[in-house]
Amino acid sequence: MVETARVGSVLVGAGHYQPERVMTNDEMATIVETSDEWIRQRTGIVTRRIAADDETVVDLAEAAARDALTSTGVPIAEIDLVIVASCTSDQRSPNTAGRVAERLGLHGPAIIDVNVACSGYVHALAVADQAIRAGAATTALVIGAEKLSAVTDWTDRTTCVLVADAGGAFILRRSDQPTVSDVTWGSVPELAGAVRIEPPVNKFAQEGKSVFKWAISEAEGLARKSVERAGYELSDIGIFVSHQANLRIIEPLARQLGLTSAIVATDITASGNTSAASIPMAYSKLARAGELPADTPALLFGFGGGFAYAGMVVRTPK
Ligand SMILES: CC(C)(COP(=O)(O)OP(=O)(O)OC[C@H]1O[C@@H](n2cnc3c(N)ncnc32)[C@H](O)[C@@H]1OP(=O)(O)O)[C@@H](O)C(=O)NCCC(=O)NCCS
Repeated sequence: MVETARVGSVLVGAGHYQPERVMTNDEMATIVETSDEWIRQRTGIVTRRIAADDETVVDLAEAAARDALTSTGVPIAEIDLVIVASCTSDQRSPNTAGRVAERLGLHGPAIIDVNVACSGYVHALAVADQAIRAGAATTALVIGAEKLSAVTDWTDRTTCVLVADAGGAFILRRSDQPTVSDVTWGSVPELAGAVRIEPPVNKFAQEGKSVFKWAISEAEGLARKSVERAGYELSDIGIFVSHQANLRIIEPLARQLGLTSAIVATDITASGNTSAASIPMAYSKLARAGELPADTPALLFGFGGGFAYAGMVVRTPK
């Protein structure tokens, strides 16, 4: 990549949080007519975590943020921007970012919520990066948090086996040697209603087959475009963190992109689909396990409700 002198941001580190309660596929089979075999074969999911009734999206977001702050050692006083990506916020106002800032005792940061469902995290990261580039922030806490169990129709086997609860967070900091790339983002109006949480039902619903077909035929080109716009070659990409929707999407996508020697995040198996939390959590878990080499380009690619997508490349910390 040709390095040009510009102010931008670097990824300092990440954190995540999952609720205590593990739900297995066998337990799911006691709730709806399904089986461990069907869920594993069609989705790759083995377990997922479900929040307690009184555990809120703010709780999940706060716990992920604390984990990121502790692991990076970034002082609370330095955070001047909090962005939360979520499509399951507890309330409309005050927003989740404001509540998290209050809970953490931050010193009056800008507080922004972003709702672009499963691609929301990459959108939030791009907004934070652009705020830093514009000089409107220096240190950003970017969180993805979802309590999808609260909007799950527990009688619908086509959706309840897929979704779960979690939080994930990155900390970005201003730098004159930036390692966070430009974003490629956009939407697909023909699929606008394909993934939804709409009144009067207000439960997660999707046209799974349409989304699956789109992912298999269109995601590759958009992920390629993301890498190109970020200023990299696909052969530079050492880590691939896609939205964790289905192992049968993640693995073919990695193959289509020729990322055969890259580290590919497959946290879907342990965690299910956690929408905006899935990318930062999958990244954070790999980092925590010591599996991510330093200063390595990681392709982050999200897609889902809207219907929207977003991709960017972030280098792991040096
Ligand atoms: C949802 C998804 C896993 C379904 O897998 P699929 O292989 O397309 O399965 P189908 O919907 O064709 O269903 C196949 C059969 O399994 C049945 N089935 C559906 N859910 C089931 C379950 N949990 N257990 C057992 N059987 C199930 C269906 O009723 C259907 O039965 P039929 O053939 O008798 O009609 C898949 O379409 C998918 O992952 N889509 C993309 C989701 C996504 O990325 N969403 C983005 C938003 S985050």
